[in-house]
Amino acid sequence: MKEKSSAKLTFGDGRSIDLPVYGGTIGPDAIDIRALYPKAGVFTYDPGFLSTASCNSSITYIDGDEGVLLYRGYPIEQLATHCDFLEVCYLLWFGELPNADQKKDFDLIVARHTMVHEQLSRLYQGFRRDAHPMSVMVGVVGALSAFYHDSLDIHNAKHREISAFRLIAKLPTIVAMAYKYNVGQPFMYPKNSLSYTANFMHMMFGVPAEEYEVNPVLVRALDRILILHADHEQNASTSTVRLAGSSGANPFACISSGIACLWGPAHGGANEAALNMLTELQAQGGVEKVGEFVKKVKDKNSGVKLMGFGHRVYKNYDPRAKLMQETCREVLDTLGLHDDPLFKLAMALEKVALEDEYFVSRKLYPNVDFYSGIVQRALGIPVSMFTCIFSLARTVGWIAQWNEMISDPEQKIGRPRQLYQGATRRDVLPMAKRP
Ligand code: ACO
Repeated sequence: MKEKSSAKLTFGDGRSIDLPVYGGTIGPDAIDIRALYPKAGVFTYDPGFLSTASCNSSITYIDGDEGVLLYRGYPIEQLATHCDFLEVCYLLWFGELPNADQKKDFDLIVARHTMVHEQLSRLYQGFRRDAHPMSVMVGVVGALSAFYHDSLDIHNAKHREISAFRLIAKLPTIVAMAYKYNVGQPFMYPKNSLSYTANFMHMMFGVPAEEYEVNPVLVRALDRILILHADHEQNASTSTVRLAGSSGANPFACISSGIACLWGPAHGGANEAALNMLTELQAQGGVEKVGEFVKKVKDKNSGVKLMGFGHRVYKNYDPRAKLMQETCREVLDTLGLHDDPLFKLAMALEKVALEDEYFVSRKLYPNVDFYSGIVQRALGIPVSMFTCIFSLARTVGWIAQWNEMISDPEQKIGRPRQLYQGATRRDVLPMAKRP
């Protein structure tokens, strides 16, 4: 990293310390505070990491004020329009888009790794049928390290690559198996003549008794959902994967920790919440009740939020939401659902909110989750599987970020400090003397 300037920190007692300031290729500069504790004996305090860059990275860039999302420099709009998900995986992992030969080779490598160890299939029988599929995902993905321990040397670049390709290839199989187990249908083996996303849909919706008919518009829609969710820089689950990996844990265990974090409703569960909100509002009267609902959302005492609106980083239209709205329209048209009441309701809500002073002044815009639930529902994906699809898409981002961290010579075990507010030293009293 190149030092761009320095910052002087002055304490009340007259001491001061100079700290280097680094510039990124784009985005805000960062003050290097590593010398702060050794030289000045103080920590910085930043719960939720609102102002802390935990690493340097070359993978994904977000400008939340402008509504920009770049993977390896390429705008998400261009990637979602011109590339398929595996091209985006190649880009995130290798740093460049593949040429035609590289794409062919990569597609083949991934296709050749789509099956899971037959004994792994038996692991599913240990779960209750009614278990949430995300709980199954946490267990099964973590268990991959018990099956693929021939490539777990994290200091060997080839081993890291094999594990990454296995994860990218096997996640669709694992997600589809979690679904099939839940609904009591037989597992479907992958079919490598199909594209990555068509194969996933075949394993999700196909049954051995009938040939699954691939609809290219629906495949493209799901492929786009995967592209839009593939990476999002240092979000909670990615930071979890990095932190777990910083101790030297194996990649399968790290990705399992990312899945656990993603499961939380404040992270991966929001599309489910947005769809539930629309369904409830529809039951209460739909478009006619939009005004009343928005009034409730603005009332702080109501505890009601407009789910799928607002974002910690985007203070502008989430670029993924625009693409998702486009896809939503395409899918509903293809399925002959142009009059889908939930889509109409979502559009009406968006229109009212975008013109309302409450939302305008707080820079609250639709996020990717506002429309993705409607698309997934139309594709036949049950609500309980939404977060599993998200984890399938995000696996490539997690593993690319993990690999970047392991390859970084500055990498250290992640170990935040704290501002202690507890009791000072005291002695244990005998039981009879305790209050
Ligand atoms: N509906 C109504 N009011 C909202 C909403 C919303 N969806 N989001 C934010 N606000 C209001 C807050 O009440 C606050 O108002 P105030 O300044 O009068 O107190 C103001 O806007 C700022 O909101 P914060 O909560 O401080 O914003 P923050 O950046 O911390 O939170 C978050 C972002 C959590 C995403 C929030 O907007 C939210 O809860 N949205 C709904 C849930 C959602 O859609 N999450 C998906 C995020 S995208 C993803 O994870 C893939």
